[in-house]
Amino acid sequence: MSIVAVGSAKASPGATCLSVGLGLSWEATIGRRAVLVEADGDGGVLAARFGLTATPSLVELAGAARHELTIEKLQTNCQMLAGQLPALLAPGCGETTTAVLAPLAGQLVEGFGRFDDIDAVVDVGRVRTDSPAIELIDHCDLLVLVVQPRFDQLVPLVHQARTLTARNVPTALVCVGDQPYPPTEMAKACQLDLLGVFAHEPRVAQALQAGLPDHRRHRRFLLWRSLAELGQRIHYRLQARTEAASPR
Ligand SMILES: Nc1ncnc2c1ncn2[C@@H]1O[C@H](COP(=O)(O)OP(=O)(O)OP(=O)(O)O)[C@@H](O)[C@H]1O
Ligand SMILES: [Mg+2]
Repeated sequence: MSIVAVGSAKASPGATCLSVGLGLSWEATIGRRAVLVEADGDGGVLAARFGLTATPSLVELAGAARHELTIEKLQTNCQMLAGQLPALLAPGCGETTTAVLAPLAGQLVEGFGRFDDIDAVVDVGRVRTDSPAIELIDHCDLLVLVVQPRFDQLVPLVHQARTLTARNVPTALVCVGDQPYPPTEMAKACQLDLLGVFAHEPRVAQALQAGLPDHRRHRRFLLWRSLAELGQRIHYRLQARTEAASPR
């Protein structure tokens, strides 16, 4: 299993929407199953956005996986998002999420390493060194850092990129939209690879917050196409990483 962490640099740029979109399009784009993990220390929003129930969540999984995390325990504690994507949800309360996630994150990393045929898209929320998801960030196969291409986001982004590079976290940048500041300039300034642009389309993003009722209709939209493109680029990176790690 690969772990793809999706986190924000600052200012709620759309990390959760991108995580949901990648999760929903993963199988169609990459041909592998995905599980979405809501690991945002500020608390979860997906249950509310998608009309799901408060349980099961990370809390129940933490209890069930005290001794060992198995794929069955993971599956039992997921809910189906938009009727198709298994999602491990965070409780709405940030304090509870932080308390549960901090000790569970290492177990998730270890468990995911054993589950071969499914990938994890993990919404880690705001990327910080004191995040309860830090083990998932440190051990991910790729961190997708989401940012709005605005000049005022640049200085915090540069600092964050430096920290991540120092921690050896494989990180690539995604800009939500391409205005007003050019995404290539953002990437150059923070010395991260630009993975691509997540199209800025409020109407379609709205649908990503409540499921995609009519899948086929949405595929025509730029946002959906940008998701497929980003998914493919992530896939190439994961493949390159696996090839580099495998013995010749
Ligand atoms: N690609 C997009 N185009 C237009 N609007 C978007 C896009 N992605 C997200 N949004 C909008 O931005 C807002 C924040 O989205 P989202 O919750 O995904 O951000 P976030 O980075 O996860 O925020 P937080 O830091 O609160 O977790 C939402 O209102 C959403 O509809
Ligand atoms: Mg979010």
